[in-house]
Amino acid sequence: MTGRSTSFVAGPGGRVSGEIRVPGDKSISHRAVMLGAIAEGVTEVHGFLDADDCLATLAAIEAMGVRVERPAADRLIIHGVGPRGLKAPGTALNLGNSGTGMRLLAGILCGQEFDSVLVGDQSLMRRPMDRVGAPLRRMGARFRTQHGRPPIEITGRRTLQGVANELDVPSAQVKSAILLAGLYASGRTLVIEPTPTRDHTERMLAAFGVPVERDGAEVSIRGPAVLRGCRIDVPGDFSSAAFFIVAGVIAGAAPLAIRGVGVNPTRTGLLEILRLMGADIRLLEQRNFGGEPVADLEVRPGRLRGIAVPRELVASAIDEFPVLFAAAAVAEGETVVTGAAELRVKESDRIAVMADGLKQLGVDAEAREDGIRVRGGSVGGGIVESRGDHRVAMSFAVLAARAGEPVVIRDVRYVATSFPGFAATARSAGLLLGEED
Ligand code: S3P
Repeated sequence: MTGRSTSFVAGPGGRVSGEIRVPGDKSISHRAVMLGAIAEGVTEVHGFLDADDCLATLAAIEAMGVRVERPAADRLIIHGVGPRGLKAPGTALNLGNSGTGMRLLAGILCGQEFDSVLVGDQSLMRRPMDRVGAPLRRMGARFRTQHGRPPIEITGRRTLQGVANELDVPSAQVKSAILLAGLYASGRTLVIEPTPTRDHTERMLAAFGVPVERDGAEVSIRGPAVLRGCRIDVPGDFSSAAFFIVAGVIAGAAPLAIRGVGVNPTRTGLLEILRLMGADIRLLEQRNFGGEPVADLEVRPGRLRGIAVPRELVASAIDEFPVLFAAAAVAEGETVVTGAAELRVKESDRIAVMADGLKQLGVDAEAREDGIRVRGGSVGGGIVESRGDHRVAMSFAVLAARAGEPVVIRDVRYVATSFPGFAATARSAGLLLGEED
């Protein structure tokens, strides 16, 4: 992380318009690397997210003997070693800031012939891991944590058995870890979700030739399974586009086009929420990238009104709440979010960190156990701590456009975990965003 600016200085008055693109989808990039590694044959990835989180996953699979060529920053040629071809890594695998990297890889590692240890940065070392450990143990894995947190120690050479898993937390990471372990298990591995979560693993397994059965809230595969290498085209990350969707609504000078964005319906809850608040956002040129829906988004400036966010939209907007809270700060009236306690165990406690930052800027915000209450109004300037959370940092950079005074956002190096080039894209769209060391 050296050589990266540590603060944003975001000016008031920026107005966005024109046309932008955002980098590749983080969730899909992680999965492409992992599935490509354990597939037979070559997998070509186009549009790979060249960001710290996905690079940590890439380094982990390379440490297990997988050869990857990188003809360009966003292109990978992965020489898959087949499901049994991974080699014991010499040291602990460090997944940096990435919960997805750690939890999904854990699913694969439970099926290997060698032992492994997973560690991460300060934030990741605080995050709950027994939510993946418990179901993996039921399948026969040996998975140890330190009081539920990393390091994770996985013992190999276990015989895994497919079982039915009813999840109590809606989590695509947990669902995916179970399905990936299911590739190594005998029989049927079934996951029942309390509410639908992102289904990139299911779609990508199908692209790699593994039959996935879906029936309402249930998804299952049969193991042991063999994956065949394929070509993966990664769409633009909806979660990165989200910052510009909100900027286009609350700080638009004219329509803003965001090209080539993944619009998988398990990810686009933010669009529905913003529309309920009065926004005009259109999906144009809808198309398909290997099983993933993609569109160009057109966002028009407009006024928002506060709402009670329907609980059923929470899972499909889970990563977009920081920027939604920013939108709520300039909406007319009150926005209330409930049923979103998961936000407390993301890269930071996003309820507490966002509420603190909003209050710092003079916004009437109240953190609640499982959500937040924000009353829209005028936004002042000041210093906001992002607590090393990439999405918090970018959310305040957007909100600053509507502030009365400049906003300094501290600890923004982690923006590079998901959106390298965010500041440049923001400036090209019209936001006034400086960087400082
Ligand atoms: C992700 C799932 C979500 C999301 C995360 C990426 C994934 O986490 O917050 O940023 O790629 O599967 P949970 O599944 O734990 O909610």
